[in-house]
Amino acid sequence: MLTGRLDAVVPLPLEVLPAPGQFHLTAATTVAAVDDAASDAVALLRRRVAPLPSATAAAAGRHDRPPSSIVLTSDEADPALGPEGYRLRIGTERIEVVAGGHDGFLWAVQTLRQLMPPELGDAGVPPDGVAVPCASIHDAPRYPWRGAMLDVARHFFSPADVCSVTELLAAYKLNRLHLHLTDDQGWRIEVRAHPELATVGGQTAVDGGPGGAYTQADLTAIVEHARRLGVTVVPEVDVPGHTNAALSALGWLSCDGEPRPPYTGTHVGFSSLCVEEERTYGWLDDVIGELAALTPGAWIHLGGDESAATDAEAYRGFVTRALDLVRAHGKVPVGWGEIGAAELGGPTVVQHWFDPRPTLAAAAQGAGIVLSPADRTYLDQKYDESTPVGVTWMGAITTERAYAWDPARSIEGLDPDRILGIEAPLWTETISTRAEVERMLVPRLPALAEVAWTSEASREWRSFAARLAGHRGRWDADGIAWTADPSVAGLA
Ligand code: ACM
Repeated sequence: MLTGRLDAVVPLPLEVLPAPGQFHLTAATTVAAVDDAASDAVALLRRRVAPLPSATAAAAGRHDRPPSSIVLTSDEADPALGPEGYRLRIGTERIEVVAGGHDGFLWAVQTLRQLMPPELGDAGVPPDGVAVPCASIHDAPRYPWRGAMLDVARHFFSPADVCSVTELLAAYKLNRLHLHLTDDQGWRIEVRAHPELATVGGQTAVDGGPGGAYTQADLTAIVEHARRLGVTVVPEVDVPGHTNAALSALGWLSCDGEPRPPYTGTHVGFSSLCVEEERTYGWLDDVIGELAALTPGAWIHLGGDESAATDAEAYRGFVTRALDLVRAHGKVPVGWGEIGAAELGGPTVVQHWFDPRPTLAAAAQGAGIVLSPADRTYLDQKYDESTPVGVTWMGAITTERAYAWDPARSIEGLDPDRILGIEAPLWTETISTRAEVERMLVPRLPALAEVAWTSEASREWRSFAARLAGHRGRWDADGIAWTADPSVAGLA
């Protein structure tokens, strides 16, 4: 009989207490949700664990035991575990999933999936069933912001690719998908007030790649698919630099009124919106308004990085105004570290990537900080010299290097209470296929997921590496490409 294991869960839960015996999952095992907040989790369980039949909550209740059942309930949820926490009690006849809300139920099902043998795939439960070791697990994340960023501007990735990457994030309990939707080489989102942004600005990509852009319906579908997995999409339009694609589509956005030629190279820091002109703010308001309506998440990311072609003082004035535009549409603005040099003027999230000084300035203004230090989290960096795609400006990032750092101590002088979490950006100048994306993410993204989820005191590289090795069968079963990083014994 296929048997699952308790010692392969990534990220490591708060507590796993093994208990005697095994739960026997069969095709007749029933699923009952006592709580509407669990409906997405039940759908996930049916789709990714096994297509099990339903039972009513009463039939699966404490006093009436069908042969085996999985019950999801918010009764007796522990408020101390927070909105993403959960308990999983695996007994010999019943698995009980207890969570306070939507996301906790989903994370519990992701854990349950990892307890199952990877061979239990889409084919359904084998005739002799599956054994799952009994245990009591309780769990909750260290940080509320656990993300990855996909650059769909340098190369375009289809909605199906993005949804597939989202499944990978959710499997490791990451809850933010930051989409870098615009850059010098491409504008990837339909804006109805300015259709040329997508129809003209979307046609290019690095090295003459095919380009593309999401319709608003595409983005809505991506956002909804992510929401059902517990993942919030954070859309980014990068301004005032990184805007050549917009300036090529709408010449009137330039100070001289002339469209810029399309750009398919990989330099940065040469383009700028005309930040002195009022028309720029009217345009930005249109763009932010449409994005705000399309994305139910709390955040809109305005970029703000590497604006070397914008006068420094004018840059700061632009940032203050642009952040307020986002707030006027009911969202919290996010920007790369550089925006910390400006007056933020209200609730803001600042994404640190390189220079600690503006990040510290942002924290001093009360901003929440998301940590994406390039030397740990930039997953466009090669694993080592043998990695076929990727760049090396930050040096190689092995899986061990991605794992072995403490966010709370990563920037000297940063108050740890300001840290919201971490995010792993994948820039795609050198990456153009789903398989290349996956090979850059796996196994480093699971490593960063554990950095974000698991308390520092509980993390240990060799324990992680041993658990991670148990996932290769799962990646293979799911058709996910991965890198046999020699820093992980058991994967190489
Ligand atoms: C960045 O890497 N320019 C945020």
